[in-house]
Amino acid sequence: MLTHAITANPTYEFAADVRAGLTKPGQKELLSKYLYDDVGSALFEVISVLPEYGLTRADERLLRRHARDVVDRLSLPVAVAELGSGSGKKTRWILEALGRRQRTRYYPIEISSTALAMCERELRDIDSISILGCEREYLDGLLEVAADRRRGQYLLILFLGSTIGNFDRPAGVRFLQEVRHILMPGDAMLLGTDLEKSNAQLLAAYDDELGVTAAFNLNVLARINRELGADFALDQFEHVARINREARSVEMHLRSRRRQTVTIAASELMVEFQGDETIWTESSHKYSSEEVFQLARDAGFRCEAQWVDQQWPFAESLLVAE
Ligand code: AVI
Repeated sequence: MLTHAITANPTYEFAADVRAGLTKPGQKELLSKYLYDDVGSALFEVISVLPEYGLTRADERLLRRHARDVVDRLSLPVAVAELGSGSGKKTRWILEALGRRQRTRYYPIEISSTALAMCERELRDIDSISILGCEREYLDGLLEVAADRRRGQYLLILFLGSTIGNFDRPAGVRFLQEVRHILMPGDAMLLGTDLEKSNAQLLAAYDDELGVTAAFNLNVLARINRELGADFALDQFEHVARINREARSVEMHLRSRRRQTVTIAASELMVEFQGDETIWTESSHKYSSEEVFQLARDAGFRCEAQWVDQQWPFAESLLVAE
């Protein structure tokens, strides 16, 4: 492990964010990063194998098919840092292709210690790879990785699974700009973006028949109960997936089934919900493949290559820092 230390008091920060989100005038909200505690991360792993949710399989297919091509286009020697490695399964193809060319340091950056442990277990058998887990938020982790860089070594950042889609578009550009500031010219980023598709396909993917996505979404309320001493009645909220045409996104909300009051002890808050009022918990923005080229330019990269999956519209783009 590179480090274990995180924020001074994560519970305090969580309580403050929940308070800010639920007292916001107009639309109440909870930050989507709070969906990913141990339970949420495990539920997300299940989502990624659901028949309706083709995103992860498309990402994996592209990485499996094109890993060698990606590696052939990199400046070597290179160390790899992954923003949000999850279980690490889909990273295997890139690490195996790189491992055939050089000894490689791989830094998975994750806020979930369980996901980090899973990722280390999943990938430890690959030859010529040393895994240096980093339990940090993305940019803090990346700063540490950059500080650990050897002379003459490039960095490859993996930002897979369309996590960029969970930022709104301007925030996505800002995030990539911040990443770019930490990098040096010639460093690269492999960026996965889910592409636009029909509303029917999106609604099925984000409101699956089995109710796994619903459980994933509701878990954020269960987590607030567990960690912040709240009394959300889970059966009084329901998962809703909704298309936002203007934003070109699919949103997840939690809808209050009736008028109710909830107490959240650690946030020192009593909050009222009207019947049908929702808490917005996540947006997944969908991109066009051309838009990614502009996104790259706006953030100080050029798009060196792009591969698009034919079964489930999804793009893997190799960006190089200019
Ligand atoms: C992690 N992220 C890219 C997923 C997505 O598709 O936006 C999270 C997710 N939310 C519901 N299903 C999956």
